[in-house]
Amino acid sequence: MDVIRIEGGHPITGEVSVEGAKNSALKLMAATIMAPGVTTLVNVPDISDVHIMGKVLKRLGAKIDVAGKHELVIDTSSVDSCETPYELVAQMRASTAVLGPLISRFGEAVVAMPGGCNIGARKIDLHILGLEALGVHFSFDHGNIHATTPNGLKGATVTLEFASVGATENLMMASVFAKGVTTIDNAAREPEIVDLANMLNEMGARITGAGSPVIEIEGVDELHPVEHRVVGDRIEAGTFLAAGGLVGDPMVVRGFDPAHLGLVLKKFEVMGIEVERGEDWCRVSRAGELLPTDIQTLPFPGFPTDMQAQTMCLLALASGESVVTENVFENRFMFASELMRMGGDIRIQGHHAIVHGQKALSGAQVKAPDLRGGAALAMAGLVADGITTISDIHHIDRGYEDFVEKLSSLGAVIERTEVPDPALDD
Ligand code: UD1
Repeated sequence: MDVIRIEGGHPITGEVSVEGAKNSALKLMAATIMAPGVTTLVNVPDISDVHIMGKVLKRLGAKIDVAGKHELVIDTSSVDSCETPYELVAQMRASTAVLGPLISRFGEAVVAMPGGCNIGARKIDLHILGLEALGVHFSFDHGNIHATTPNGLKGATVTLEFASVGATENLMMASVFAKGVTTIDNAAREPEIVDLANMLNEMGARITGAGSPVIEIEGVDELHPVEHRVVGDRIEAGTFLAAGGLVGDPMVVRGFDPAHLGLVLKKFEVMGIEVERGEDWCRVSRAGELLPTDIQTLPFPGFPTDMQAQTMCLLALASGESVVTENVFENRFMFASELMRMGGDIRIQGHHAIVHGQKALSGAQVKAPDLRGGAALAMAGLVADGITTISDIHHIDRGYEDFVEKLSSLGAVIERTEVPDPALDD
């Protein structure tokens, strides 16, 4: 099995560039279904989740050419199926992003129901309630969601009970061809929602308010293909900036908009990290000790749940006690138990983690519990005494391109290597 092996305690400094945002690229790829023809996406990250979305589109009948390391040319004129099977949805829950586009283009969709996953139940009830308001009928059989639109799609006002990213995206895409005006109230405001609305508008949609809690979509008859650049990955950037703050030596991260990490960077400053913001870059450094602070995750512009584990890593070495409250996903503290194996002093009480900062962490064998937790374990390994070996690194591959190479270029002593799988021992 593949593991990442890190020797802690080496200086890390320099510059690193981030790729396009995973969470944007996946939805933009799904949205190409709505504009029959050839759409080109640039700044697409070369990560396994993008490969899976590519398989989903091909299964629907699309043709995809990889024009360069970060450029996908997607021809959706030949899309002729509206079925997304379980084996793909089971590999990646975000495959459900094709629901809205398929309903838009064909008035019908069959998408396997996503199961639970290791960071919580991750239901899709809000997607379904919202789509029903637009006139979509649902039936459920053999593990599939079957959506039909016997009377077409009609604009409506949908108030989301929670500002769900996925539900906002599916609703926005499903309403592009609906008759009249759709209003999404309590919409998610993440930068990836804005990127999707921008591309749909370039394609001919009429969407206003993306990035605010109220999004309005005026129905149009058709969309046309475009060329679009994926927004920079704020979470990849935040991960490297957390590494910089942890180690302390100056680090510059390029290729994203620091405004997309507003609260994260403010919290880093409270923790004693110096932050300099440029137009599409950010520089961090730290001279003094790490200071404790409390964080609570919330939808954007709140503190992102996708930066919770990396930040807990910093707090595990701060000079006092911090409380981390996870409000977005249940079961997102699995990273904490791995960090405890490295000497972290963390107590979990429901959706709170009480973190007592320690003087040092010690390298250990740990398992990546999920994508961000896996990256955060590597952060911990950079400053831990001795060797850290991380297994289950397929989680990290889902969302970080050239993760080991990028850290290595900054000076980390890190390698990806194959070791015998102990589970296969007699
Ligand atoms: C997206 C991101 C993920 C990020 C999350 C929150 C992608 C591929 N993933 O996930 O990285 O952590 O936003 O910023 O873009 N919920 C319901 N019913 C629903 C929908 C959601 O109860 O119908 C709940 C979920 O179980 C979860 C919370 O709402 O507890 C947030 O989910 P949501 O914002 O939809 O996240 P995703 O779109 O799945």
